[in-house]
Amino acid sequence: MASIVSRLSSRSLRALARRAPRFPASTNAASFSLLARSPRPAPAVQTIPARGVKTLNFAGSDEVVYERSDWPLAKLHDYFKNDTLALIGYGSQGHGQGLNARDNGLNVIVGVRKDGESWKQAVEDGWIPGETLFPIEEAINRGTIIMNLLSDAAQSQTWPTVAPLITKGKTLYFSHGFSIVYEKDTHVIPPPDVDVILVAPKGSGRTVRTLFKEGRGINSSIAVFQDVTGKAKEKAVALGVAIGSGYMYETTFEKEVYSDLYGERGVLMGAIQGLFCAQYKVLRANGHSPSEAFNETVEEATQSLYPLIGQKGMDYMYNACSTTARRGALDWAPIFEKTNLPVFEKLYESVKNGTETRKALEFNGRVTYRQDLAKELKEIDDQEIWRAGKVVRSLRPDYKTE
Ligand SMILES: NC(=O)c1ccc[n+]([C@@H]2O[C@H](COP(=O)([O-])OP(=O)(O)OC[C@H]3O[C@@H](n4cnc5c(N)ncnc54)[C@H](OP(=O)(O)O)[C@@H]3O)[C@@H](O)[C@H]2O)c1
Repeated sequence: MASIVSRLSSRSLRALARRAPRFPASTNAASFSLLARSPRPAPAVQTIPARGVKTLNFAGSDEVVYERSDWPLAKLHDYFKNDTLALIGYGSQGHGQGLNARDNGLNVIVGVRKDGESWKQAVEDGWIPGETLFPIEEAINRGTIIMNLLSDAAQSQTWPTVAPLITKGKTLYFSHGFSIVYEKDTHVIPPPDVDVILVAPKGSGRTVRTLFKEGRGINSSIAVFQDVTGKAKEKAVALGVAIGSGYMYETTFEKEVYSDLYGERGVLMGAIQGLFCAQYKVLRANGHSPSEAFNETVEEATQSLYPLIGQKGMDYMYNACSTTARRGALDWAPIFEKTNLPVFEKLYESVKNGTETRKALEFNGRVTYRQDLAKELKEIDDQEIWRAGKVVRSLRPDYKTE
């Protein structure tokens, strides 16, 4: 679906959003929302059919899934008509979630350190100092829904000044269970008289934004930690839709943070880099050229085979390969599983007992965290495997200068 948003330049989109009334007239809302599908004027909120929650059977387990089609824009606007969404922090999630909620016609303001990197970025994205962009404390005071999208380490560092501002009647929102679940290390303990909810997009903030602009929605997890109004879950779902989610899976703060920390250290990032490097090194040690080792390790995986897993599953990918490849992979998969199982068990325990959290807080709480990270990422960039990769990528038919 080519949406109007994707056809507008980001500059004109920003101008539109800036000019938009707080809750835009229905025609405007239809113009820059990707969720708007029905012709305007929108029907009265009460008459919009809500399909309610969906219970789906996932491989034998029933799970509840919420979807954005239950929250047409008119209903969303009505639901948040008395709210100001105060986004604290403007990293990748702040950028994606904030722009999506703004394009959906909600009343959004941003709070970041004055004149820091994020402040500059926010100004570039059309947030106006004194109108929609404020220092952190002022944004919290102005907001009714406080969306804490600071880095996880910063959430902990700033909590002593943030906590007293989270007054009764406000809602505290996170995109990760980190601060709340590891309260012994983070010292983030919310006041007892506010709803505390979570919407965690399953992807980078950049993807949250791109999928929204494409008219699709990212999958997110939603959870409730504290429900004083009796409406916390409903609010989490509505906010999930507002920030650009398509489907929302119900979880708990604890399950969200355990699975997230585990997954990114595992096959999403850590394990995949480890496996790529191990396979590449053995090929190189046996006399294979860098290009051959890279092609057989990374290029074929990312360009040919992994997309097939994404489209139709592992069995489909196996079926698409030669009988020789299939036989070998079938034999070796259980060996890799058995060898790696203890590593994954150790990793899960390290997540659960807070070791991973303490490391992240220590590293990301350093004054020099940006430089320290850059140094380690440079070391990866300098590895032979990834240097070889640059040349291989440059030979792709759709190559664009990196
Ligand atoms: N990134 C993802 O893929 C992803 C996915 C799902 C959920 N999440 C969660 O979403 C939340 C935000 O993550 P993110 O990746 O968008 O943000 P991030 O890049 O980790 O954090 C950036 C923000 O934190 C601010 N910040 C850092 N140190 C600060 C300090 N000492 N005082 C005040 N502000 C400080 C930065 O402001 P300055 O520019 O002024 O330094 C910036 O606005 C986290 O809870 C994260 O776990 C992230």
